Amino acid sequence: MSALNVALIGYGFMGKAHSNAYAQVGHFFPDVRKVRRKVVCGRNRAGLEALAKAWEWEEIESDWRRVIERKDVDLVDICTPNYLHSEMAIAAAEAGKMVLCEKPLANNLAEAREMTEAVASVPNFVWFNYRRVPAVELARRFIEEGRLGRIYQYRAQYLQQWGPDPSRPRNWKMSKRTAGSGVNGDLNSHLVDMAMMLLGPIRELSATFETFLAKRPDPDNPGSTYPVDIDDAVLVQARFDNGALGSFEATRFATGFQNDNSFVVHGSRGMVEFHFEDMNRLVFADAGGDPDLRGRRTLLAPSPGPPGAPHYWKPGHPLGYEHTFISSLADFLAGVDAPEPAKPTFEDGLAVQRVLAAVEASALGRHWVETGL
Ligand SMILES: NC(=O)c1ccc[n+]([C@@H]2O[C@H](COP(=O)([O-])OP(=O)(O)OC[C@H]3O[C@@H](n4cnc5c(N)ncnc54)[C@H](O)[C@@H]3O)[C@@H](O)[C@H]2O)c1
Repeated sequence: MSALNVALIGYGFMGKAHSNAYAQVGHFFPDVRKVRRKVVCGRNRAGLEALAKAWEWEEIESDWRRVIERKDVDLVDICTPNYLHSEMAIAAAEAGKMVLCEKPLANNLAEAREMTEAVASVPNFVWFNYRRVPAVELARRFIEEGRLGRIYQYRAQYLQQWGPDPSRPRNWKMSKRTAGSGVNGDLNSHLVDMAMMLLGPIRELSATFETFLAKRPDPDNPGSTYPVDIDDAVLVQARFDNGALGSFEATRFATGFQNDNSFVVHGSRGMVEFHFEDMNRLVFADAGGDPDLRGRRTLLAPSPGPPGAPHYWKPGHPLGYEHTFISSLADFLAGVDAPEPAKPTFEDGLAVQRVLAAVEASALGRHWVETGL
């Protein structure tokens, strides 16, 4: 199997997380296709050079169209602001490249549909990396094994606190034009993907948005403010197709929380609870058996990989944020040479986008909305 030449577009936060994944994947997953860090693309030459040097990318390029046109690029990975995803993904697919894209898939549902159509004939993937937290995989296993019984309720929260910080520079995440939405696309997309992976489709929902600070101090222009037209917080109540009731809360105004992506699942036979800020653990309660042992207990998530031959470290040696990206990439690469592609594909990203659009329609129209599954 020949190595795949990778072009990475965007060298910011995700550019770094993905660079690490390309550098590491072959070490921990020696059986999947090899990757070569061929070219990294971005607009600021100094920043680009620094990332290329730190993560050993062979070349740099400032024009993303030139990168996509290159004959020696097999795979294009999009780590740019949301409003650029669709144009880049469609151009990459039309050039016959494999396309990986950060979440949320697009700025809106129409774009997500076009992108999904465009990538139909090439391997594609969306980086919903939280799927690959080992404790989340354990929760999924418990649900699939029936260990939680019939699922009654699902409660998800994604809590960050940086929204009101006056020292935070203005960036693309603060504008509907460049981000599509605020926390709905940024944080709720992760919650929705995780929920649908665990419980299946969401049928209908009712949502509300809040923008707490419509004008923000601009640290680059002391004394002035800039307008904010995105949602700072979103609350959703939802019904899953399987009959379970769900609630979702995503906010950048949760003082005291840095990155708490969490969920609780209550079933007839048990419950699980996960918090990303304590990502190596899963809380579990068994509703059956000895009544004296029914309280919530904390499990250390097993190491990913076959028993006795973990991909990373021996049991009890915790993993971190970066491993979720390495594992996601390994899934994608294994899928390239398998009969079935790895999930989440653009189809899964589109399913999330459908729910995000329903959330927006409900919040703006102040009524329940069917997602259309
Ligand atoms: N999976 C996750 O957990 C996670 C976390 C953070 C961000 N994200 C997603 O990743 C994407 C990028 O977010 P980020 O936090 O890395 O942003 P960032 O602002 O840190 O980086 C964005 C990068 O895009 C580049 N860029 C902007 N316009 C460009 C253009 N026209 N041509 C080429 N490059 C261009 C910038 O130079 C920069 O390197 C977003 O879609 C975001 O939602 C995902």
